[in-house]
Amino acid sequence: MREFEGKKAVITGGTHGMGMAVAKSLLAGGAEVILTGRSPENVEKARRELGERAHVIQSDVSLMADIDALGAYAAERFGEIDFVHINAGIALLEPFMEVTESSYDKTFDVNTKGAFFTVQRLAPLIREGGSIIFTSSVADEGGTPGMSVYGASKAALRSLASGFAAELLPRGVRVNVVRPGFIHTPTMGVAGFSESERAAFEELGDQMTPMKRHGSPEEVAKAVLFLAFEATFTTGAELSVDGGLGQGLSVE
Ligand SMILES: NC(=O)c1ccc[n+]([C@@H]2O[C@H](COP(=O)([O-])OP(=O)(O)OC[C@H]3O[C@@H](n4cnc5c(N)ncnc54)[C@H](OP(=O)(O)O)[C@@H]3O)[C@@H](O)[C@H]2O)c1
Repeated sequence: MREFEGKKAVITGGTHGMGMAVAKSLLAGGAEVILTGRSPENVEKARRELGERAHVIQSDVSLMADIDALGAYAAERFGEIDFVHINAGIALLEPFMEVTESSYDKTFDVNTKGAFFTVQRLAPLIREGGSIIFTSSVADEGGTPGMSVYGASKAALRSLASGFAAELLPRGVRVNVVRPGFIHTPTMGVAGFSESERAAFEELGDQMTPMKRHGSPEEVAKAVLFLAFEATFTTGAELSVDGGLGQGLSVE
């Protein structure tokens, strides 16, 4: 029997990047997966690529109606869920003096409010022994220029995960967090980058990271799936996948 045979998972933001890597590992292991994305083109592309055990739906995590529709779809298609990955997230690189009410709200609506209400909607469907993983960021602590709002939204997400872990403990549902550093994805997690900006950001990341390289979506997926299915005595925890970036290492 394959590793994830019979398992049912929901991933927000799974049409490319880390969520897609998690989906591919689950599907290869025999699971059935509902995954979401915002842009219809990416949804269609993922649908073509992933095959029939992947149910790819267009759903914007910043819209309550879409969250509700995702919950209804998961209830109808799966009934019970083994694993929820709250992965959709965006960063808008902006010095704090350039942040507007609208860009502030956009970041929090996707990364924090959307995450909260998706869990609220899906938690009743998660079976005993199931788990939730959040994708936070190495930016959820400390300070990075241009990332004040993003960092705050991920710090709030980290805090929400602790609250969910405590409240879901009596139901036997574990809640944990992965904390990526610089990971090679189509966006590097930053909305609106041109290809050259993305490449420069990646290069900067390689210099800053103690391991002197960026991580791959597959390396993050391994950590996600470890926490989700193997770490049965772990809840409320955060696992960094950052090449040592957030660990205060002195390497020069
Ligand atoms: N890459 C990094 O270096 C890095 C580092 C630290 C943390 N992170 C975090 O890791 C997570 C995944 O990052 P990634 O780089 O793999 O991202 P990505 O490649 O940009 O993929 C993000 C996924 O989220 C979806 N998405 C974006 N906005 C959405 C919305 N409003 N509603 C629903 N889905 C939405 C995207 O769909 P569409 O593109 O179709 O909209 C895509 O499927 C994010 O939470 C990010 O903040 C990334």
